[in-house]
Order: sequence, then C-alpha cells, then structure tokens
Amino acid sequence: MSGGHVFLVGFMGAGKSTVGARLAVELERPFIDLDEAIVRHVGLSVTELFERFGEDRFREIETETLSALAALPPAVVACGGGIVTRPENRGLLKELGFVVYLQVSAGEAVARIGDASTRPLLSGPGGTLAATTLLAARESLYTSVADVCVDTSGLEPERVVGLVLEAIEECL
Ligand code: S3P
Repeated sequence: MSGGHVFLVGFMGAGKSTVGARLAVELERPFIDLDEAIVRHVGLSVTELFERFGEDRFREIETETLSALAALPPAVVACGGGIVTRPENRGLLKELGFVVYLQVSAGEAVARIGDASTRPLLSGPGGTLAATTLLAARESLYTSVADVCVDTSGLEPERVVGLVLEAIEECL
C-alpha cells in the first residue's frame, strides 16, 4: 500500500461508509465520506443536487472534491458508487491512493439500502432491476481501478473491516 489515501469504491449499499468509518479508526486515519463532503460544500442533499442541477453537475462537483483530496493527509475515503464512471476520476483514484473494491450483488445492495429515497439513481420504480443494470455496467470499471477486491456478500461490516485490513496488509 502506498502512502496515499485508502479509497473504498463499490456499488450503493456495498457498505463503503460504514466500513470506511470503522477502518479509519483501525488505521488511525481521518475518515472522509465524499458524498458528505459534497453535501457540506454545496449546502444541498445529493437528491436536491440531482433534482436541481442534474447528474452531470453532481459528477463535476464529485471530481472537484476528489481532486481536492490531493492536498490532504492520508485518510480513508468512502466514495459515491458512481465515482468510477468518469475516466478522470479513475485516474485520480489510482494516482492518489490504494483502492479497495467492496463487492455486493444488486439484490443484496437493494435489500441493505431499504428506503432508496436518498439514492436518486435507485429511487424510481423497479429498484432491483435498475440496480442490476447499473451494477452490470459498472462492474468492470470498479475492477479496473481496484488494487484489491473484497466480497461482502452476507457479511457484517465488522467482518468486512477485518478482510480489508488483511488485504491491505498483504499489499504492504
Ligand atoms: C451514486 C451513489 C451515491 C451518490 C449518488 C450517486 C451512484 O453514493 O453518490 O446518489 O451513482 O452510484 P453511495 O454509493 O454512497 O450511495
């Protein structure tokens, strides 16, 4: 693992924020939730941002927020599920740190999320179908940026934290 950030990527519901916060404690690093950083910066929720300005504007702000991490000391960073969709973000992730892909199936992701009203891309009708289509389109992008992949199927966050720590140690 390089001296940069540890990035958690993966689909919505993969557990990036929950696992990331606990991982940061274990690694004694600050924790940054990229979506929360965007919300704080803009003063709008992710849903409001999508509604008022559209997904493209959200993606621009997401890229700006990711770039700004270059100036910060090494942290654990939970990224939004769509971070890998922009090529420049994939470059930034590789450049700025070590990337952990938390894998989850579409069905388990939807079950974990429950009320999808805060996830604009899944909040319409047919949540599982939308998730299946979106995940299929993104799977190879997550894999392409990942230094390690951790399958979270059926696992509690605590166990996932343990697996991520093991995976990171193996790469040291
Ligand atoms: C998105 C995932 C969300 C949030 C936005 C878009 C996506 O983050 O960034 O709703 O495109 O997958 P989480 O993965 O933290 O839910």
